[in-house]
Amino acid sequence: MAAGPIPVAAYMETALAAYYARGEAFGAAGDFTTAPEISQMFGELVGLWAAVAWQGMGSPAPVRLVELGPGRGTLVADFLRAAAGVPAFLAAIDPHLVETSPSLRALQRTALGGRAATWHDGFEQVPGGPILLIANEFFDALPIRQFERTAEGWRERLVGLDGGGFRFVLGDPVAEPPLAEEVRGSPPGSIAETCPAGIALAAAIGRRLAREGGAALIVDYGTARSAPGDSFQAVRRHAPHPPLENPGEADLTAHVDFAALAAAAKGEGARVEGPIGQGLWLQRLGISVRARALMDGKPPRQAAAVASALQRLIGAEEMGTLFKALGLAAPSSPPLPGFGP
Ligand SMILES: C[S@@+](CC[C@H](N)C(=O)[O-])C[C@H]1O[C@@H](n2cnc3c(N)ncnc32)[C@H](O)[C@@H]1O
Repeated sequence: MAAGPIPVAAYMETALAAYYARGEAFGAAGDFTTAPEISQMFGELVGLWAAVAWQGMGSPAPVRLVELGPGRGTLVADFLRAAAGVPAFLAAIDPHLVETSPSLRALQRTALGGRAATWHDGFEQVPGGPILLIANEFFDALPIRQFERTAEGWRERLVGLDGGGFRFVLGDPVAEPPLAEEVRGSPPGSIAETCPAGIALAAAIGRRLAREGGAALIVDYGTARSAPGDSFQAVRRHAPHPPLENPGEADLTAHVDFAALAAAAKGEGARVEGPIGQGLWLQRLGISVRARALMDGKPPRQAAAVASALQRLIGAEEMGTLFKALGLAAPSSPPLPGFGP
């Protein structure tokens, strides 16, 4: 910071790299809980979704199963267990995990229990061929840039040092801010965000799908349309935390602009399905039936835990609507499961 204030994106990237390197983020003892950590139903249904998508692709073997940011590896483990129901699919899967944190890579290796996989630092390193790509709560961790509309126009929000702590400062006015068209006319006082890394990644995924075939599933929290707003936030021990305090010790995220991701992938030739609410998507894939099967014959406490997990995943006031599923596919492939008629 000796060189002066830095963009929010640079702050977020540096703080998050340190944070994920610790590998202690997940679960009741960590800072947050993700859908696959709430219930095995999530990863299982994603696995069945992928099996149907794979059949729609003409059952290519091998198929690269690419997971971006697999966390503790819970989703991929549940995915593979469910995929065992379609033996030819299970046999065709060649797992490729995109993960930068060495400690999380180690947890993922354990979760895979002996199943071979290849780890990469970035999506572009995944070898060629058709892919099935899964990204749950990955895009919300990619660094965002923020701009504030002032009387002089849009100015980038930067992070500077003030005494012993960090604070937001504003850069010089920017004539052409890299913001969505719908957002640029927002009134003074507005804050708007863009995620260049997320947009570039969605474009790369779209390009890959259009050229080599496959499907991608992006699940995250965010908005279906580009809109102004300050969504930069931190969570520490399951409670909101000021994002400029204790960098490297709190999870930093921002809402995902699904419209921007969809446009980037579509611009490269991919077909886009959704986004739709996570709750509706999971219900269309049969989560209630799966929940009933898991509750069947179980002691009341265990059955109640399944019912409560179901509610957390699909409830409108919980993850059901704020979290959304976006499907991307090669233009020639049939409709993806769960996205509706
Ligand atoms: C919020 S966690 C989500 C974990 C998992 N998908 C789940 O649902 O439990 C974000 C994951 O992305 C990884 N990650 C964050 N930024 C990354 C980047 N730029 N490249 C690769 N992995 C990254 C983190 O280490 C972590 O595994």
